Order: sequence, then structure tokens, then C-alpha cells
Amino acid sequence: MQGLVLVVGSYAQDLSFVTARFPTPGETVLGTFESGPGGKGSNQAIAAHRAGADCVFVGAIGEDEAGREIRDFYEAEGLATRLTVLADAPTGRAGIVRDRSGQNQIVMTQGANLRVDPDQVDADLLARTRVLLCQNEIPAETVRELFGRARAAGVTTLLNPAPMGADFPADLLGLTDILVPNETEFASLQTLCGGGLRAAGLPSDDGELHQQCRRLGPPVVLLTLGEQGVLASTPEEFFRVPAVPGVEVRDTTGAGDAFVGAFATAFAEDSADLAGAVRFANRAAALSVQVVGAAGAMPTRDRIEAAGGRA
Ligand code: RIB
Repeated sequence: MQGLVLVVGSYAQDLSFVTARFPTPGETVLGTFESGPGGKGSNQAIAAHRAGADCVFVGAIGEDEAGREIRDFYEAEGLATRLTVLADAPTGRAGIVRDRSGQNQIVMTQGANLRVDPDQVDADLLARTRVLLCQNEIPAETVRELFGRARAAGVTTLLNPAPMGADFPADLLGLTDILVPNETEFASLQTLCGGGLRAAGLPSDDGELHQQCRRLGPPVVLLTLGEQGVLASTPEEFFRVPAVPGVEVRDTTGAGDAFVGAFATAFAEDSADLAGAVRFANRAAALSVQVVGAAGAMPTRDRIEAAGGRA
């Protein structure tokens, strides 16, 4: 049975500069400009919605042009939202530099996202929820309170610890059922949890990686490793799901969000098939990097199914 995917998180207007290569410190390079909807929370909600989830996005925006544009976007998408619109805080914005190979560097300013409030989620909404998904671009106190309420209500909590700052509150790991870090976030979490890391970086042995995942606390850890696929670690087993081969990368912005939103969708539909949900998410991420943009690049259910779905 399909359950609701509730995404509580950030919205940012993405201001993207495209250059042949990243500037070095102090250097100016020439490029082109484009803008569009971003923000990890919103991207993940759009990804889940397009992947077929019954999804609600909870966030905060400013009463400004960027805020008006994104409300129109949500309406056109048909995504259900519970938004706080603030007169005294700007909509979040992200400055992105993207190079010719599709890689990016991002600076995000949170603005209204700092006021995403747990009270935006009432008991009725939580009672309908199967998976609650949060990231690190809203206050940790909001995530902490909502994860606590979700746990008490038997809702699965899913945390994408991005972006990972030095101030990441490790206690959130104790409230998380499924953790989805990338390689960099995983390395920071290891240091935070006292595991340390070898100078050479992550171990190449999956058994060793699994042991490091076990140290973090959440029952399920999905370590996303780009072209190396995903290492899934549970109390019972670990396995690797390979990345989709032969993908022509145009823009990696939001690829992690495509993965997380699609995973939440597939998991909410069938939590017993973890490997299938990861395969579904991998295919969504692979489709997203072939299209320029963040939210706008999220693939629809039809396209994910045509690429193999969860099989
Ligand atoms: O994950 C990609 C997103 O990170 C971008 O859309 C940007 O807004 C930042 O939040």
C-alpha cells in the first residue's frame, strides 16, 4: 500500500553560472547564466512527486518575486505544499558554478528556510505519513522535533545529511531510521562518531565500509558513491547496487536529491524490497544528470520505469 512521503526542508532559487572550468581563488572567468528552482528539500519533494509518490512538501519562503515564482511552479506541478510565507525574510538562494563536465560548486543562503517550523506539521498530516524525509538546510531543532514525533507515531525517518557542516548535531542519528550520505558526508560522520578515517579515504572493502556504517547508529545506511554505485548496510546484511552504466552527464546539480526523493517513493510503496528501491533511485538519479537544472531535471515515473524501474 502506498503511504505519504512527507518532505520537510528547504527551497532555494538556484542562480547558476556555467563556465568552461572553475575559477581559482582570486580569478575571474567568463560564463553564461541560468536560474531555476532548487533547494534540497524542494528538489527531493519534486523528485518524489514526479516518481509517483503521494507527497507533501513543508517549507518556508519569502514574500518576494522568487517566492511567487516557486508557488506558481508547485501549482503547475500539482505538488501539495504547506508553506510559511514570510514578509520579513527572503526566499533562500543558491549560487552555483557549473563546469563543462557537469560538476558544480554551491553556496546556499538559507533566508526563510531558517524559519521552517515543526508546527507546520499537524497530527493529521503525520498520521497519513509513511516516510518523513529531511535534510540539513533547515534548523536542526525542527528536524529533531519532527523525527521524535515521527518515531513515536511509527513513521520511518529518512535523513539526507546534506550539506554536512562541522556543527552537524550527532544526536539526530539516533532518531534516524534510514541515513543517505554521500562519500564526503560519510567521511565527516565517521570523524564525528569517533571512527576516524585512513589518510587514503574510504576503505575499498565493502565489509569494512559496512562496519563503518554500523558505527553510525541508523539501522539502514545507504552510502551513495557516484560511479561506484550505492553500498546498502542493514543490521542483517550489506550489498552494493551498481551505478547505471554509460550515462552522459550534463549537470549533476540535484542528482543526490533525485536519488533520495525516488528512494523515499519506492520505499513507501514496498519497504520489504530495499534493493529494488535503491535500483529505482539509481535510475532516477542517472536520468536527472542528463538534463540541465535541479528540480526541473527530476524524471517522471514513466521515464524511471522505462529505464528499468526497481527491477
Ligand atoms: O542539491 C542541490 C541543491 O543544493 C541545489 O538545488 C541548491 O539549491 C542547493 O540547495
